[in-house]
Amino acid sequence: MINNILVTGGAGFIGANFIRMLLNECPGLNVVNLDLLTYAGNLSSLSDCAGKPGYVFVHGDIKDYNTVSGTIKKYGIEGVINFAAESHVDRSISGPGIFIETNVTGTLNLLQCAKECKIKRFMQISTDEVYGSLGSEGMFTEASLIKPNSPYSASKAAADHLVHAFHHTFGMDTVITRCSNNYGPYQFPEKMIPLCINNARHDKPIPVYGDGLQIRDWLYVYDHCSAIWAVFRKASAGEVFNVGGCNEKSNLELVKSILKILGKPESLISFVKDRPGHDRRYAIDASRIMKTFDWKPSVTFEEGIEKTVKWYLANQDWLDMVTSGDYRKYYEQMYSGRSPL
Ligand code: NAD
Ligand code: DAU
Repeated sequence: MINNILVTGGAGFIGANFIRMLLNECPGLNVVNLDLLTYAGNLSSLSDCAGKPGYVFVHGDIKDYNTVSGTIKKYGIEGVINFAAESHVDRSISGPGIFIETNVTGTLNLLQCAKECKIKRFMQISTDEVYGSLGSEGMFTEASLIKPNSPYSASKAAADHLVHAFHHTFGMDTVITRCSNNYGPYQFPEKMIPLCINNARHDKPIPVYGDGLQIRDWLYVYDHCSAIWAVFRKASAGEVFNVGGCNEKSNLELVKSILKILGKPESLISFVKDRPGHDRRYAIDASRIMKTFDWKPSVTFEEGIEKTVKWYLANQDWLDMVTSGDYRKYYEQMYSGRSPL
C-alpha cells in the first residue's frame, strides 16, 4: 500500500485533474505536487485543492537533483508519478532543446533519485505519439513499434526507454501508460480544443492545419486519470498499458462539433499551412487495460465535449488569466502576499 505520492507536473492540465481526483476520492492519501510552473503550469488550476489535508505544493524542477531527492526524503515519498513535460508538438518543432532537457534529462534525474531513495513504484505518463503515425487502418497496441516522428514524441520515447532500462537493469518497479489525446477543463489554450473555444468566443479565426483530415482519438481527461490510478495501484512491475477512448475524429469534424455547441458559424474555420511532419492518424487499442482492470471511460465523446465547452464558457476568467501571463495577482490572492515564485 502506497500512501505518500509525488506527482510531478501537477499544475499542468492532466496533473491538476489527477490531483483533484485523488484528493476528492482517496481520503488519507498524501500528495506532493512538484512543478516548475512553466507557461503551461498554473496553480489556479488547483485553487480548490490548496489547503486540503494531505496536499502540498513544491515549486521546483524535475532536473534538479537536490530538489527532487530532498522532497522525496522530506515527505517520505513511496511512489512517483511523472506528468512533468514539455507537451506541445508545435513548440518542439520551433525549439526542440528544452524537450530533451525536460522530458529526457528530467526523467533520468527522477529515475536516479527514485532509485537511490528506494521508491516502491515509479510511473511514467507517456503518450500514444511514441508509436508514430497510422494509415487509414489499424490501431496502436502495446506491441506496436516505437517510431516517434516529432521532437516531442522522440523525447517522450527516449524517456520511455530510460524507464524500461531502469526496470530491466536495476530491477526498479516501473509502469508506463500511453494515452491518446485528452480534452477537458484546465488545458492550456494552445492545444486544439481550448484554442478553438478561446478563439471562437472572441469570433477570431480557428487555424486548421492542412486539409483538416488528420485523425486524433479523444479521451475525457478524468477518464485518463482513472486509468492512471488503476495502473499505478494494480499493474505488475515493468508493464505498459495503452489508454484510449475509441473516439476517432478528424480535426475538421472536431472543430465543427465545437462551433455547433457554441452556436458559432463554420466560417470561422481558417485553413492554414500544415504542421511539418504532421502525424496523420492516431488510434489506440485500449482492450488490454479494459480487460485487465475492468477500466472504461465514464463519458461518451458527445457528453465530454459538451461538458468541456460549458466549463470553458463558465471559466473565461481562467482563460483570460492563463493567456495574459500575469499569474502574480492570483498567487498574491491565494498566498496572502507570500507568492511561491
Ligand atoms: P502540460 O503541458 O499541460 O503540463 C506540464 C506540466 O509540467 C506543467 O505544469 C509544467 O509547469 C510542468 N513542468 C514542465 N517542465 C517542468 C520541470 N522541468 N520540472 C517540473 N515541472 C515541469 O501537459 P499535459 O497535457 O498535462 O501532459 C502531462 C503529461 O501527459 C505529459 O508527460 C504528456 O506527455 C502526457 N500526455 C499528454 C496527453 C494530452 O493529450 N495532453 C496525452 C497523453 C500523454
Ligand atoms: O496523442 C497524445 C498527444 O496529444 C499528447 O502527447 C500531446 O502532449 C498533446 O499535445 C496532443 O498532441 P497533438 O499534436 O495531437 O495535439 P494538438 O492539440 O496540438 O493538435 C490536435 C490536432 O489538431 C493535430 O492534428 C494538430 C491540429 N491542430 C492543432 C493546433 C494547435 C490544428 O489543426 N490547428 C491548431 O492550431
